[in-house]
Amino acid sequence: DRTLKIAPSILSADFADFGAEVRAIEAQGADWVHVDVMDGHFVPNITFGPQLVRAIRPHVKTVMDVHLMIAPVDPYIDAFADAGTDILTAHVEAGPHIHRTLQAIRAAGMKAGVALNPGTPAEAVAPLLDDVDLVLAMTVNPGFGGQKFIHATLDKIAALREMIGDREIHLEVDGGVDTSTAPLVARAGADALVAGSAVFRGGSVEAAQVYGENIAAI
Ligand code: DX5
Ligand code: ZN
Repeated sequence: DRTLKIAPSILSADFADFGAEVRAIEAQGADWVHVDVMDGHFVPNITFGPQLVRAIRPHVKTVMDVHLMIAPVDPYIDAFADAGTDILTAHVEAGPHIHRTLQAIRAAGMKAGVALNPGTPAEAVAPLLDDVDLVLAMTVNPGFGGQKFIHATLDKIAALREMIGDREIHLEVDGGVDTSTAPLVARAGADALVAGSAVFRGGSVEAAQVYGENIAAI
């Protein structure tokens, strides 16, 4: 399914009101909810874990798209599956055994994604394409919302789309996606767009209609 998916990142939502925030973005047409899990080790920031996925799961019917920025990954795979994760994405840079990790994610009943940092070449995921359902190209250095889009990643997005070929694999982009960069990544071949600050702005539930305007614009 190549229709463009919009995946608002709750990293930019109101942390005191996640239930209302995810209901609001679903009502405004979000396809996926993007959950950014950070461990303060693989990236220099700490967010939340499987308990948050479990807590928001009953509030929406959208796909739970969980982006792990943690190392190691394997000890937490079952907890994310139990919590209601649909797509679990691990970074190719997160450890020496990414292939094993991706197999374990599928074995736990989830779709498997592999993410690459802006400094990692497209070729790093070439040997993994028969074992993934999604490739996530970072368009900022992971760790924080609201950073500036790195334009040098556009050629890599196009190369990844080419490598994916006819396979049923989503190509997701994450970081600095807004109304001006969304057309660039879509043209380069992305079919799933993460957007944090562009969708949530100040992260207030009262601004729910703003989500809709921004989702529609992206
Ligand atoms: C960055 C996260 C992103 C982030 C995107 O480490 O993976 O998902 O929330 O935020 P924006 O859209 O504000 O760049
Ligand atoms: Zn993310």
